[in-house]
Amino acid sequence: MRIKILGSGAGGGFPQWNCNCANCRALRNGAAGYRARTQSALAVSADGENWLLLNASPDLRQQIAATPQLAPSTHHGARASPIKAVALTNGDVDHIAGLLNLREAQPLAVYASPRVLDTLKANRIFDVLAADLVTRVELPLDAPLRIEGAGVDLGLAIEAFASPGKIALYLEEAGAAEFGGQPGDTLGLRIIEKATGASFFYIPACARIDDELAARLRGAALVFFDGTLWRENEMIEQGLMGTTGSRMGHINMGGRKGSIVAFATLGVERKVFVHINNSNPALDANSKERAIATAAGWLIGEDGMEFTL
Ligand code: MLT
Ligand code: MN
Ligand code: ZN
Repeated sequence: MRIKILGSGAGGGFPQWNCNCANCRALRNGAAGYRARTQSALAVSADGENWLLLNASPDLRQQIAATPQLAPSTHHGARASPIKAVALTNGDVDHIAGLLNLREAQPLAVYASPRVLDTLKANRIFDVLAADLVTRVELPLDAPLRIEGAGVDLGLAIEAFASPGKIALYLEEAGAAEFGGQPGDTLGLRIIEKATGASFFYIPACARIDDELAARLRGAALVFFDGTLWRENEMIEQGLMGTTGSRMGHINMGGRKGSIVAFATLGVERKVFVHINNSNPALDANSKERAIATAAGWLIGEDGMEFTL
């Protein structure tokens, strides 16, 4: 199974269009130790020819252009794409807006939770993915589902599970419990290669690592995990937004309650942070935070990184 990080950044990407934080400024000024990042998505293939996207970011057009494996192959006629299916982890802008890049009458399958499918249905702009060509399939919780699209069996299955988290910001209902969210509004995915049983986890949004999630992840071969923030309060401290990580549904990497500590005893073989926000000090390859993450066995995801399982 081949896995490629299409985008390792969080919503807004790095640099973010309107952001003047120290990281965004350093990157714009060409400082050493910084790399640009597009928004959150992975691509997976069992056969190297047919690909499943995990999330469809607003930067998808750029990501496809940067990824030779996702270009139409020459032996497939006037219109073709190796992208056969897309699985969505939630309804966030950074994870669904890229679906609009997949119009142009291309057959495809879109997998998501029932409530994210409802969101696509309620926003008629997504009807550009014509119903006769693009099938929309519900991802059940805790039951592996075989993935196919455009008449192709991808040789993959997805087991979706509820990730501790939150409803998309723009869907929040003021005053409602959990802002109107329900378990399953944010999914974690285990992607399984059918032929070998090999699997990895993709969890780009996670508010906390509870016992259930820890048990699920124990001993995993490879996990791509929510690396949005280093510190709970970093967006506030940097004067960017008046919001904590937990209010956004994102655990922080650092500190006693952070993901690095929570993973320390889980025996995960390869750990990769993705969905990294532009405010995160670990984006600087020369920072003490990067050194801490690296010493704990983490990779800080970069666009274009490839993995084989
Ligand atoms: C998030 O991950 O919290 C969201 O993508 C934030 C956003 O809407 O930009
Ligand atoms: Mn996001
Ligand atoms: Zn910034």
